[in-house]
Parts: sequence; structure tokens; C-alpha cells
Amino acid sequence: ASLKGYNTFGIEVRARKFISVTSVEDLKEVLAQTYASELFILGGGSNMLLTKDIDKTVLHIDLKGKEIVSQDEDEVLLKASAGENWHEFVLYTLEKGFGGLENLSLIPGKVGTAPIQNIGAYGVELKDVFEECEGIHIQTLEQKTFSKEACNFDYRNSVFKNKLKGQYIITSVTFRLSKKNHILRTSYGAIKTALDKKNISSAGVKDISDAVIAIRQEKLPDPKILGNSGSFFKNPVIPVKQFEDLQQEYPEMPSYPLSDHDVKIPAGWLIENTGLKGYREGDAGVHKNQALVLVNYGAATGIEILQLSQKIQRKVEEKFQIRLEPEVNIF
Ligand code: EPU
Repeated sequence: ASLKGYNTFGIEVRARKFISVTSVEDLKEVLAQTYASELFILGGGSNMLLTKDIDKTVLHIDLKGKEIVSQDEDEVLLKASAGENWHEFVLYTLEKGFGGLENLSLIPGKVGTAPIQNIGAYGVELKDVFEECEGIHIQTLEQKTFSKEACNFDYRNSVFKNKLKGQYIITSVTFRLSKKNHILRTSYGAIKTALDKKNISSAGVKDISDAVIAIRQEKLPDPKILGNSGSFFKNPVIPVKQFEDLQQEYPEMPSYPLSDHDVKIPAGWLIENTGLKGYREGDAGVHKNQALVLVNYGAATGIEILQLSQKIQRKVEEKFQIRLEPEVNIF
């Protein structure tokens, strides 16, 4: 089976076998019948780079459903199945008048993969609205509920990328959302600017979502039109001392202080300043509006994208002595 339609990079690779499950019962049955080592778990396919055919059974998690678990006047606990499309789910919560997910509008992918890398954008991370998630252990079929603490969320990171990597399939995620007195997160400059432009003094969550959608559409390529996986690298964290040295040479280098010791640098700026923004090798390229996003102009192979990413790593390291780490999962 071809996986071209199942990864947002649009890479043509083949799977030995492809199974889509639409219920937890079906999922358990497949898990009971297949060795864990024979399985490749596929969620939204929005955060991975496939570089070769997969000689395994690809298991597509296509569980659907949304359910209010509980609510009071102020808050609602809303549970969504892993296979729900992330952005459609965000729009659904906004239509219901629930607040919390608006800054995370238009992120590609599925609900079930959002906790794995603690998706984040425009001043909000998944962990800020996360209540719990459910998962099934791939080998024992044990069903387990993970609290926020158990997930160990960090910047683009969680327990599911570390200690529990490859062990559980997330089947649902429960969110804690506001029903009134929504907290609007407008700290990200471009959101503020967009709201000011529209002269919205009494902005609501839908206005934030609209602003985020407009910002993303301007900078980030739509994977349906141009294959990509969002940010390819994480924004690197470097010691303050190293930052101060670099600042001597590059006074305009943007930065976000994390602590007394560490500073986060936007990888997009580093890449742009090696001259690679808009660079293209065959069908693999660095996006012209956002250097942190690698794109597939059509027929790029996973290896070609990988080689381009390694070239970027080399150039950035040569110029800034900073090692960029991929954010996407590379297979
Ligand atoms: N910049 C450049 N050149 C570029 C791109 C960025 O100079 O080509 C500079 C910008 O001028 C700005 C800074 O870098 O000063 C930050 O850029 P931006 O606001 O676009 O955000 P980012 O750091 O590049 C991160 C996330 C995005 C998220 C945005 C907004 C990571 C790895 N990426 O990008 O997440 O949407 O912030 O919050 O943390 C993703 O994870 O797939 C993703 C798209």
C-alpha cells in the first residue's frame, strides 16, 4: 500500500500491509494478533519523515468521536478520540463557545498525536488545556489513563517520546476548556497586531483563532498544496554565555530567555542567516517564507529531504556553533 496520502510531506513510500482501525475493539484485536515489532503506528502523519519503505504492518489509528465528560458553569471536560482531525476539532470547540484551543488553530495532524510532542503555537501548548489521555499498551493491551503529570510535558516533548516511546497507542485525549471568562492569549506579537488592525477591543476566542489562521496561512505552507511537516527542527536552547558571544557578532539575533542560564534561539533565523531560506535541491526545499519548514515540491524522496536537513545542520553549526535537532520523527 502507498503511504503518500498518509504523511503530510507527501513522500511516496510503501507499507507491506496497511490496516485502519475505527474502534478500540478492532484496535485490540489487531494488537492481539500482531507482534509489536511487526507494527508501525501511524497517527496524523504530520510530524514524520519517511525515508524508506516500511516492511511492517502500518496501523492507521482512525478512531472518531467527541464526548462531554463533565461540565459546570465555568468549564467543560471534553474528550476526543485519537483519529479526530486536530483543526476540525478546534473549530468544533469554538463553535460550541469553548475557549482554550484557539491559539492552536490550523495545526496539521490528529488529536491522538498532539500529546506526544506537546504541540504548541502562539504562546500556548497542548499541556495548558490537557486534562488526561487514554492509551493502550501495544504488547499487554493494558488500557491506561495518563494524567498531565504522568505525561511529563516539555517543549515539543513528553513521556511518549522518551520512557514510553513506542509502547502505548493513545486512543483519546480529554481537554479542560473554559465556557466563560475565557483567557485570551495575545502575547504573540502578530496576534496583537492582527487584532489591532481589525480594531477589535472586545475580541473573543474566535477572533484569536481567525488571527492565528491568517498568520499561519501567510507564513506556513498548506500541506495539501505543498508537502511539509511544519517546523522541521526544534528551536535550540543555548547557554547565556554562548548567546552573549554570538550577540557581539550578530546583534540582531532574536532570542527568548528561558532562565538565568539558558536562551532559546529561533532556528528559522539561524537558517535564514546561513542564506538557505528558499534554497532548493531538486524537489526538496527550504520554504521561502519560513526557513524552519522544509517542503516537498512534488517528487522529493525522504532521503533527499533528510540530506537537505543535514546540509542545514552543517551550515548552521559551521556559522553559529549551534546544533539543530530535528523536531519531526525520522523513519
Ligand atoms: N525567523 C526568521 N526567518 C525565518 C523564520 C523565522 O528570521 O525564516 C525569525 C522570526 O522573524 C522571528 C523568529 O524567527 O523573530 C520566530 O519565528 P516564528 O514566530 O515564525 O516562530 P518559530 O520559532 O519559527 C515556533 C514553532 C511553530 C509555531 C510558531 C508560533 C517550533 C519548532 N516551532 O516557530 O510551530 O507555529 O513558533 O508559535 O517551536 C511546528 O512545531 O511545526 C510549528 C510550526
